Amino acid sequence: MAFINENYLKLPGSYLFSEIARRVDAYKTANPEANIIRLGIGDVTKPLPQAVITGLHAAVDEMADEKTFKGYGPEQGYDFLLEKIVAFDFKSRGVELATDEIFVSDGSKSDTANFQEIFSQNTKIAITDPVYPVYVDSNVMAGRSGTLGADGKWSEMVYMACTAENGFVPQLPTEKVDLIYLCFPNNPTGTTINKTELKKWVDYAKANQAIILYDAAYEAYIQEDDVAHSIYEIDGAKEVAIEFRSFSKNAGFTGTRCSYVVVPKEVMGYTQAGQPVEINKLWNRRHCTKFNGVPYIIQKGAEAVYTQAGQEQIKALVKYYMHNAKMIREGVASTGIEVFGGVNAPYIWLKTPEGLDSWGFFDKLLNEVNIVGTPGVGFGPNGEGYFRLTAFGSKENTEEAIRRFTTEFKL
Ligand code: MLT
Repeated sequence: MAFINENYLKLPGSYLFSEIARRVDAYKTANPEANIIRLGIGDVTKPLPQAVITGLHAAVDEMADEKTFKGYGPEQGYDFLLEKIVAFDFKSRGVELATDEIFVSDGSKSDTANFQEIFSQNTKIAITDPVYPVYVDSNVMAGRSGTLGADGKWSEMVYMACTAENGFVPQLPTEKVDLIYLCFPNNPTGTTINKTELKKWVDYAKANQAIILYDAAYEAYIQEDDVAHSIYEIDGAKEVAIEFRSFSKNAGFTGTRCSYVVVPKEVMGYTQAGQPVEINKLWNRRHCTKFNGVPYIIQKGAEAVYTQAGQEQIKALVKYYMHNAKMIREGVASTGIEVFGGVNAPYIWLKTPEGLDSWGFFDKLLNEVNIVGTPGVGFGPNGEGYFRLTAFGSKENTEEAIRRFTTEFKL
């Protein structure tokens, strides 16, 4: 008999964004004329930068020629891309990394979901609340969560609340944890923390032999000086932090797929006997066994992000989306609804008005003004009473959405 992994049965019925898509499809079927504006899932809408397109085309031509054709590549990524990552994303910020500390992959969703595999079953997990659901669900699947309580919390996980009351700054856990998921700039709240706050986490991890899984997928959106682009800008972080980066949100690769994980050789995990083991070695072993590398063509597209034209074009993309973020922030605020985020991130987090809960507000927006957002509670119990809008729509759609929103919720 093929026994299943029963941890899967503990998971809520569907992944958050699948549930949203289901509700929107049902509405669309019932109202085929509706002009729905989607500011729900954080998916980009502008095409790939021209430099990337040029890189992709050239790589396709190489694949068509026997002399330049490529079969399997290095699982960890080609040197041409690893070297650019090390120089542009880290050395430029005073962080020294070696190319064999970078693992190119197909997306931060899979990377952040997969990384927990190399830790033991009894690892104590800490997450911010609200949180990107992938961190939680992947640990539920692995059997680390315990049971789901009526309060929406898993019994074995440690929750660090991020709400308006604490300025969305998570406090250090009072109990000892082993693996800490942090995401800054934050998805979903669109807020972030300064370097002093981040240093507290690095110090905590060092003192407790814990590891920080740091998701920096939205790093390109940082506008303020006192916010770290990489956790390795913080002293000591190379001993305790793994960093996840993505080409999805800065260069429009959500459908093209390319990301990377930084695993410094100093980061140690421990055997039950207390013996230190390099996490880099374990991740390399896992990566080579389960992954055959990102396609050559895609890596050439990613490499083009680091050309001068590529750098200028991705800056323009970020500027475009941040203009939308500003429009959303200001528009929502003009209705008297409390609004957060959107300054260093492409997400805007608002308090649901009129006594509506997150899903109630979702339905109201969908039904009355045909705008799709994301209910805050979908990101965790402390997201209840909040709602997320993304700045990744087109400027025209964002303007129209804000026009509808401000009309509906006029002061
Ligand atoms: C989100 O909407 O939270 C993100 O787009 C999801 C993702 O990047 O996987």
